[in-house]
Amino acid sequence: MLSLSVIVIDDDASQRKILSGYLSKIGCKVTGCESGERCIETIKKHYVDVVLTDFRMPGMNGLEVLQKVKEINPEIQVILMTAFGTVEDAVEAMKNGAWDYLSKPVDLDELELKLKKVFEHNQLIRENQLLKTQLQSESLSTDIIYKSKSIGEVLNMVARVSDSQAAVLIQGESGTGKEMIAKAIHRASPRKDKPFVAVNCAAIPEPLFESELFGHEKGAFTGAHERTKGRFEIAAGGTLFLDEVADIPLAFQVKLLRVIQEKEFQRLGSSQLLKSDVRILSATNKDMQQMVDEDLFRSDLFFRLNVIPITIPPLRERREDITELVYHFIEKQARINRRKVTGISTEAMDGLLKYDYPGNVRELENIIERAVILARNEIVTRADLPLSLHSKPKSLSNESMPLQVEQLEHKLIEKAIRTTHGVQTKAAELLGISERVLRYKLAKYGIK
Ligand SMILES: Nc1ncnc2c1ncn2[C@@H]1O[C@H](COP(=O)(O)OP(=O)(O)OP(=O)(O)O)[C@@H](O)[C@H]1O
Ligand SMILES: [Mg+2]
Repeated sequence: MLSLSVIVIDDDASQRKILSGYLSKIGCKVTGCESGERCIETIKKHYVDVVLTDFRMPGMNGLEVLQKVKEINPEIQVILMTAFGTVEDAVEAMKNGAWDYLSKPVDLDELELKLKKVFEHNQLIRENQLLKTQLQSESLSTDIIYKSKSIGEVLNMVARVSDSQAAVLIQGESGTGKEMIAKAIHRASPRKDKPFVAVNCAAIPEPLFESELFGHEKGAFTGAHERTKGRFEIAAGGTLFLDEVADIPLAFQVKLLRVIQEKEFQRLGSSQLLKSDVRILSATNKDMQQMVDEDLFRSDLFFRLNVIPITIPPLRERREDITELVYHFIEKQARINRRKVTGISTEAMDGLLKYDYPGNVRELENIIERAVILARNEIVTRADLPLSLHSKPKSLSNESMPLQVEQLEHKLIEKAIRTTHGVQTKAAELLGISERVLRYKLAKYGIK
């Protein structure tokens, strides 16, 4: 069975009937058209694999049909039927991108053979695309490490919304794992074998938004040398992730809203309506509600995007995740950088647990990456961590400086005496002072 959708164009109704009848019998979905014009209207609205067209017809001829079809969708294959003895027409058609030609009267077995070739070709292309998206989804596999209840709740939400079509807006400070959660939703959804396409809205210059998202035809604007698919088209059947969504320019917001509502869009410079079957996820580290209140973001678009809100708390509000994340990143970074680092000293972990992480999990990962690369031993120590992580100097107390200096001196001497088990020569050496000064200080502080 050949499951192809085919348009048959012939101005001769009986000829049309014979061909259509045969094609239906071998499994094709067939639409008959009495003219090229009718065919063009149809392919603007419906998906078609093959156009089988007569050459000489009133109105558009076969060559013109071929050109127009290829303009609208180059993936549609065109087969021409030429009268006996008009080889030049056939040659011209092949030069212009026809898939093949048949001479009339059409040999039905030959027709079937040629369609079979198209079918195999299409299948190959589809398999190829599938393979690509599979590779893509493998690269999506990241473990989400956590211990906190708050992330547990986020993941619970992910599980509950993933099989729906609802738009999800993920909010959270920079580096909290917004993109990771978006990928987790995609992976857990029925769309997981289709593409996950991320768009960084902050990185697209304002005039290019439309062409980036919806694509453009060749020549749609200066510099459009090739027809290009937009992100909506690339994500077909899958998930479109609008990252930094607050950065979508106001002027473009209304267009995006319309496409989301009507589920249809057009490439820039084309009138063909394309169906958009994408699930929209978005993320931001801005306060979108406030932007809406200040008229910096359209409220209607915000409601469309924010059907299900998910908020990821900053790392400093879920410190119970730090330990696990540290072990996870040590293992990961040691593997990536081929280092034999396997653990971390208590002191270093202590420093990491106390830090505030303005850059959240990403900052923690960067700190560990650096530490693993620089580590002198198999264990990450305090010295391998950035200075900003070392305990902050004590805040200034009310006591005078001389008094604080004396207190510190007292402690240091006590410690030196303890370490040297009371051997004054050694203690003085350790402290870098003479034995005479040491005896004087011992007496001063009453140390035995
Ligand atoms: N719970 C977690 N477990 C493991 N890795 C995490 C976790 N959270 C974040 N990460 C890692 O931290 C890094 C930052 O995460 P991600 O890119 O998802 O953050 P983001 O919120 O999108 O950041 P930004 O706002 O800067 O775009 C990534 O390398 C991600 O794998
Ligand atoms: Mg991000």
